[in-house]
Amino acid sequence: MKSPRSTYIPALKYHALTRYYDWVASLTTREKIFKTALVNQAAPLAGKHLLDVGCGTGTLTQMFAEREPSLTITGLDADSGALELAKTKFASMDQRVSLWQGFAQDMPFETATFDVAVSSLFFHHLTRLQKLDVLKQIHRVLKPGGSLLVADWGKPSSSIQRMLFLLVQCLDGFETTRDNVKGVLPFLIEEAGFVVVGSKDCVATPLGTIQFIQAKAHLT
Ligand SMILES: C[S@@+](CC[C@H](N)C(=O)[O-])C[C@H]1O[C@@H](n2cnc3c(N)ncnc32)[C@H](O)[C@@H]1O
Repeated sequence: MKSPRSTYIPALKYHALTRYYDWVASLTTREKIFKTALVNQAAPLAGKHLLDVGCGTGTLTQMFAEREPSLTITGLDADSGALELAKTKFASMDQRVSLWQGFAQDMPFETATFDVAVSSLFFHHLTRLQKLDVLKQIHRVLKPGGSLLVADWGKPSSSIQRMLFLLVQCLDGFETTRDNVKGVLPFLIEEAGFVVVGSKDCVATPLGTIQFIQAKAHLT
């Protein structure tokens, strides 16, 4: 049996579908709206070092790179296929955007490296234990007082939104998405040592409700 640390759920569950991920995400998640909101939440960005956890095909990473030319960006994802697609978006920016293949539970980065960590549509690919492991890793690699900004599926804002989210659950699995539906993610973020400073805003989409969570790493 494979260890939980050596497996992950690809962007659209099956590797063969990863090439269609950008198209599906843009059609079904109001992607431009919620990712622009996430980029806005991270301001000011000038001169900072940002980590995109579970960056996948790099759409959010690219939006950050385009927003602030002085930003240094590191993207991390377990899936080499998704990272190959991401690379094509940074042909002219590879000086300040580096993409790493690896598990977010075992980040290959020094402690206190990043000013900001961001993540979109990633945590619902993880079991509760994996979520906590990853959050502790993010806390480790963030500088004290650094920010964590998350956009992921959250508590549905209506019963229709709850029904729509069943489609995501059928694709990505019920175990990994259950905590998102219950709205537990902000509590896990606090358990990992962060202070949650915002978690009310959300966006209704054709697949469910995307919730934003802003948190700060404790000053030590
Ligand atoms: C739905 S995609 C989201 C990609 C991107 N953040 C976006 O918003 O378009 C989720 C990504 O998480 C990655 N992933 C899943 N489990 C992972 C893990 N344990 N460590 C690193 N990446 C992981 C998958 O390979 C996939 O690319």
